[in-house]
Amino acid sequence: MLSSRLIADRDFALATLDPRVFGTFVEHLGRCVYGGIYEPGHPTADENGFRRDVLDLTRELGVTIVRYPGGNFLSGYNWEDGVGPKEERPVRLDLAWGTTEPNEFGTNEFMDWCRAAGIEPMFAVNLGTRGPDEARRFLEYCNHPGGTALSDLRRAHGYEQPHDIKFWCLGNEMDGPWQIGQKTAQEYGRIAQETAKVMRLACDGLSLAACGSSHLDMPSYAAWEYQVLDHCFEQVDFISLHQYFKNEEDDIVTYLTSIDHLDLFIREVAAIADSVAAKRRSKKKMMLSLDEWNVWYKAHTPDTLRKPGWPKAPRLLEEIYNFEDALIIGGALITLLNNADRVKVACLAQLVNVIGAIFTETGGPAWRQTIFHPFALASRHGRGEVLRCRVQTESFATKRYPAAPFLVASVVHDPETGGVSVFAMNRSVDEEMQLNADLRGFGDLVLGDAYELHHDDLKAINDKDEERVKPVPHPAASVDGRALFARLKPLSWNLFTLRRAES
Ligand code: AHR
Repeated sequence: MLSSRLIADRDFALATLDPRVFGTFVEHLGRCVYGGIYEPGHPTADENGFRRDVLDLTRELGVTIVRYPGGNFLSGYNWEDGVGPKEERPVRLDLAWGTTEPNEFGTNEFMDWCRAAGIEPMFAVNLGTRGPDEARRFLEYCNHPGGTALSDLRRAHGYEQPHDIKFWCLGNEMDGPWQIGQKTAQEYGRIAQETAKVMRLACDGLSLAACGSSHLDMPSYAAWEYQVLDHCFEQVDFISLHQYFKNEEDDIVTYLTSIDHLDLFIREVAAIADSVAAKRRSKKKMMLSLDEWNVWYKAHTPDTLRKPGWPKAPRLLEEIYNFEDALIIGGALITLLNNADRVKVACLAQLVNVIGAIFTETGGPAWRQTIFHPFALASRHGRGEVLRCRVQTESFATKRYPAAPFLVASVVHDPETGGVSVFAMNRSVDEEMQLNADLRGFGDLVLGDAYELHHDDLKAINDKDEERVKPVPHPAASVDGRALFARLKPLSWNLFTLRRAES
């Protein structure tokens, strides 16, 4: 039996958590839009063609912000194709994914969907085949109240009020050889700078994110971040990070260190951004937007990335998640909480069908993939201030990470409700863990809801007939005054909620 100790004090907060870390992503890719969020004629479809079953699950998932319309799709997309009367919209080839894009769904439909779901939109401008001119025109269409050609065009399309979209990504993965219009860091840094400049001239109050590296192992990683930020540091608020986790060797111990990999990535990008600030004698703190992250490696063959014949909304990137993937997502969420001072936005990629937390059958049901559960619990109970935790635990070793702690944990205190949430993951493959958490400065606490996410079979999946992987009430937790005691199963992700004892 492992024994771990955790100490957190109400007075030692790391940062207030930005709820936008519970974002997701909707790209025109496979069945994410068509057959995912939008399917006119589906038995649950509303008058806009939005699947109500998917809307309900999106709300249950606790999504706060959604990135749109891509992804790689973005870099060949003309926003003008997706607005105005549907029967007049052009059908186009999407070169990013080898499909036919009907443009039945576009900016205004996405805004209607966001309103229906109660979600903030995060838009992206195409800096692959286009540039600052398109960005300013698109922004005028979306956000200007009226009285100009493009804002009046939006009104003529039935949207009298401006959409008021605040968060904008400046392109997508511009360092990637697969990207339409790939750029060097110097080329991209300059375009990002000029695009941000004209967007700020056109509209106040925007949050702008420049593209960082496509992942931590890109050959240009770190140099890319430095050079890009050296150009656009004053114009942008965020640098983006993308990271997909893999278990290609079927080695659970190494797979578990995806969490350490993400933590390293975040800390390094923050350090690079701070070094650019130091060089510029700037006091500005660049924030981080992890605007694509998830597990993705099973649906990564040529056949699952592209189908012949330019099909419309084929099955692409339909990753089926298992219990071990849910553990990784749960652990990564704890990592995001523990970096709440720098990571202010994060988007689980993606929402539905395409590496999605939700899965649907076209014309059929929708259900929760395994990874849905840690995300939904973290979003529901991870609000308020993240406390600085002291964790005492033993560690394990892999080639890349010689001292990875068995216990991965975070404590969040919501000053509004007085509630405390303790997130704890036992990364031992074979040993139970006795967790003793000392929660100081709250007075006497009592245990509220507590959950355990565990399955004896790492490869267990959920499907339309059975939800095998889901949280259950925690079987072994108690609270005495300020101390939480819990027994954590090997390979389990756990959440304990506590509240003040009635005096
Ligand atoms: O999310 C799937 C793809 O992964 C996105 O289109 C791209 O940005 C990334 O490489």
